[in-house]
Amino acid sequence: MRKILILDLGGHYDQLLARRIRECHVFCEVVAARRVTVEKIRDFDPAGIILTGSEACDDVLNIPLFDLGIPVLAIDQGCQLMIRTLGGQLSDAPVRREHRRALTSLGECVLFQDLLRDIITWMDDNQIISRLPDGFVATASTGEHPIAACCCPERRLFGLQFHPEMSHLNGLHILNQFLKKVCDAGEEWNMENVINGAIQHLRRRIGKGRVLLALSGGVDSSVAAALLSRAVGSQLTCIFVDHGMLRKDEGDLVESYFSRMDLHFVRVNAADQFLTPLEGVSDPDEKRRIIGAQFVRVLQNEARKLGIVDFLAQGTIYPDVLESGLGYADVIRGDEMGSLPEHLEFRELIEPLRYLFKEEVRDLGRAMGLPEYLVGRQPFPGPGLAIRIMGEITREKIRILQEADAIFTGALEKGHLHSQVGQYFAVLTDGRTLRNTPKGRHWGYTLALRAVTTEDYLTAKWARLPYELLDDISTQIMTNVPDISRITYDITNKPPATIEWE
Ligand code: XMP
Repeated sequence: MRKILILDLGGHYDQLLARRIRECHVFCEVVAARRVTVEKIRDFDPAGIILTGSEACDDVLNIPLFDLGIPVLAIDQGCQLMIRTLGGQLSDAPVRREHRRALTSLGECVLFQDLLRDIITWMDDNQIISRLPDGFVATASTGEHPIAACCCPERRLFGLQFHPEMSHLNGLHILNQFLKKVCDAGEEWNMENVINGAIQHLRRRIGKGRVLLALSGGVDSSVAAALLSRAVGSQLTCIFVDHGMLRKDEGDLVESYFSRMDLHFVRVNAADQFLTPLEGVSDPDEKRRIIGAQFVRVLQNEARKLGIVDFLAQGTIYPDVLESGLGYADVIRGDEMGSLPEHLEFRELIEPLRYLFKEEVRDLGRAMGLPEYLVGRQPFPGPGLAIRIMGEITREKIRILQEADAIFTGALEKGHLHSQVGQYFAVLTDGRTLRNTPKGRHWGYTLALRAVTTEDYLTAKWARLPYELLDDISTQIMTNVPDISRITYDITNKPPATIEWE
């Protein structure tokens, strides 16, 4: 399979770029540019390399990247680095601005061939190319940038002063031209190939060993379970820890689906083990710490009872891998990264989804026939409702929140609004407010509804839900959950707020 290597100089766009490359059905990996060596590149054997960076980034490249004979697409800071390295010149722009620019293509360049419309893109005007290195020609310009793109066709080196991944239509076309016309990469990255490759790899690695997977019922662990089940069937045991802080009916839903699959399914009803140490605890960090520690204890205990010591499987996905490297991609082959969580006594860690983005994980799940209610799910935090109940967690509060949350999420799903909203849930605040009941005044809980639109969960905007829908939800909750006395709608964006309340 022909693959692309993304060398990241720093900035915010490496993941978006990688997702766009994979949308073109070509596999790619992201590596921090300052870490890469010629040996690692040769080992990876890329059909092409993309050197990218934005804003304040490391301008460090310790290898003769442009002399390797491998096609290079250099973007933004990557382009400027290429120009400087090869003897060209940059100069400061008279005024530093970031603007939407219309690009004019100058003559023939394979990247801009067959473009159906003008390229409009964001450009940071801080530096302009004032002289090209020998052998390079300008291939596109804007009013402010006489050289907004350039190339040296003989050496297959291409430079863009803008980020093609930012503009979906034209940008994807430009990337596709680089991948298919310059690097000769075929459309080999598809779910069928991913499934077959992963199954072969897992069978080789696991052999006759036994695997334990902690199943949360979320998208990632569900898809990991399905993939492992296909690969090694009953050598896989899935432990589903029900910590008593799941959404309404969630435990039964997960159990009913996975207990029918070709794997051992074990549900551990551990609510007491979690809720007892949480009694009287209201500090959010302490709640998370207790839940994390209990989780490891329960899992280890079950593994001991079952006698499984070979492999622990986790649903780690690629953004987790990229984000764990101090803001930089840190890996080239992965094996250096995978480490066993402390206190778990397994021989090896298996992460079958570690090169997949979230949407790819969903596609993989769908390709394996998992139902939409499992693959289409929105994220649910590991600590569960614990971080959606402010203050001390009690069984009564859990029950109240489960009821109210089910009404809210059910109404969005019934109104088919859930697909437009990235994440939505209810939060039980610790604030008491008044409500009148036939028996008199009642100090009930204040509920908050949170719905956000988001692409990547790193930023989010509060969702503009229709007033009529909110009104209907309010009536339903106030009618059916008597312990709630007030309902508010959260209108904060991320940043500065977070999506969850704790
Ligand atoms: P925040 O609140 O940080 O959430 O804006 C971003 C995304 O991460 C999820 N989240 C968690 N997931 N364990 C998890 O597995 C956690 O402790 C946790 N905290 C937040 C959150 O639901 C959102 O999708």
